[in-house]
This record gives sequence, structure tokens and C-alpha cells, in this order.
Amino acid sequence: MDADPFRVFLEMQMKLPRNAPGSNTMTRTMFESLEGLPQEPEMLFMGCGQGNDVLELLRCSKGRATAVDMLKPFLAKLEAKAEVAGISGERLRTVCSDFEALDLPDGIFDLIWSEGAIYTLGFEEGLKAWAKYLKPGGLAVVSECTWLTDTPSAEARLFWDKAYPIMGTLAENVERAKRAGFELLSTHVLPEEEWWTEYYQPLIPQIAAVREAHAGDAGVQAMLDEEETEIRLYERHAADYGYAFYVLRKRA
Ligand SMILES: C[S@@+](CC[C@H](N)C(=O)[O-])C[C@H]1O[C@@H](n2cnc3c(N)ncnc32)[C@H](O)[C@@H]1O
Repeated sequence: MDADPFRVFLEMQMKLPRNAPGSNTMTRTMFESLEGLPQEPEMLFMGCGQGNDVLELLRCSKGRATAVDMLKPFLAKLEAKAEVAGISGERLRTVCSDFEALDLPDGIFDLIWSEGAIYTLGFEEGLKAWAKYLKPGGLAVVSECTWLTDTPSAEARLFWDKAYPIMGTLAENVERAKRAGFELLSTHVLPEEEWWTEYYQPLIPQIAAVREAHAGDAGVQAMLDEEETEIRLYERHAADYGYAFYVLRKRA
């Protein structure tokens, strides 16, 4: 019997060290660049997945984390890693929920952190939906796939017009953030190697293994084709698009 491609995709992602481009070093560098946070910040992580960012910020701050994701297996992996790291339950709360409809009080967080997840709402819509959870003047650090040129190659344009048609340039996303009620503090584009070392490089052998295990399953093979297409596109067109961190402050 054919397998559910999404379930297979999830199993494959669970075996990776992270589920989007990035690194702990970049997460820490971005956090250390922030000014004005309290000694013990209340931090809200949106679409945390297995929570590398959550654990890194708990290691380098005295804060508390509320970690939101809609997929329970990712949160279970985060909880297991937190236990191994000796992080107490008082400092980490996981919430399995859609981050568009969270049952959390407004205005209680100093910082919203989200890596590679806001695209499911769209950059502007996501910021609009999340702003209410921040205290006045609270900070948001959000990474988002972004056009790095106004004139990308036809191949990259064709792919992203289908996969994420509202993907913006840096300038467009800055305007979107302003419309969502934020001021821009800075932007930082992820170096190319941050796509490869902990994301695409570990994903490539996973794709090969799953291909073999599900030979003849058209649905799974099509899902794997899409993953490979995305990797090969980045190999050819890394100058056209990349992940950018947007460091934002909620306007009072
Ligand atoms: C590409 S992964 C990135 C995960 C993680 N932040 C990282 O950098 O490895 C996107 C994550 O967002 C979560 N997600 C997507 N849409 C969501 C939603 N509407 N509510 C909650 N979580 C969501 C997914 O379950 C997934 O874990």
C-alpha cells in the first residue's frame, strides 16, 4: 500500500538536525545583537519545530520560553533535548497549536522569535497576527525567505511563483513590517553555508534512503522530487534569494 507522503516527509524531517536553513551560531549572534531586553525575558517561539533556537536562547539568557508548533512530534523532540540539557520545566513551556489561533494572553512577551515558519501565514499577515502578544516596545526576530535581487533568474522566479508567490524583497518586507505595526532595527542575510551544513547536506542522504525504501510509490517519489528540485535550485541561484532575519520593534 502507498504511504502518506506528508507522513513520510515528516519522518524524514525528524531525522535532520534542523528543519530550515540556519545555525545555533547565527541564532546566538542575532540574540546578542538585541538591546533593551530585560534580564529574564519572556520569549515566544513561533513554529519552533524541534526547537534549536529555543534551546540556544535558553542557554544564552536567563529567560523563559513558550515554544509553539502545531506538530506534536517536533515538540516531543524539543522536550527530550531540553531534558538532556537539564533545562527545567519552569523555563520551557511547549504549546501544540496553530500559531494563528493561540490561546495566550495579549501583551505578555518581551520577544517573539521565529525561524523559517512565518511563510505559512505570509510575512505581513504573520506579523499582524503575532504583534498582540508583545508588550509595547517588544522585539520580534523573524527569518523569512527573501528575494535578494529585483531581477532573479527565470528559473528561480518560476519555482517561487508557484511555491511562495508572495515572497518579498528585503525592501518589500520592511514595508510589510511597518504596515504590521513594527519599526525595523536591522536585517541580516544568512550566509550560503547556513543552507547547506545543517539542512540541505543532511537532507540529501535522507532523500536517497527514502527513495529506495518507497520505490514504486508515486506519491512519495513526487514529494522527494520536489525536495530535490528545491535543493538543486538553490545550488544554481543562491544569489537570487536567501533567508533574511528581520529584527523589529513593535511600535508603542
Ligand atoms: C520549516 S519548519 C522550521 C522549524 C524550525 N523553526 C527550524 O528553524 O528548524 C516550519 C515549522 O513551522 C511549523 N508550523 C507551520 N505552520 C504552523 C502553524 N500554522 N502553527 C504552528 N506551527 C506551524 C511547522 O510544524 C514546522 O515545525
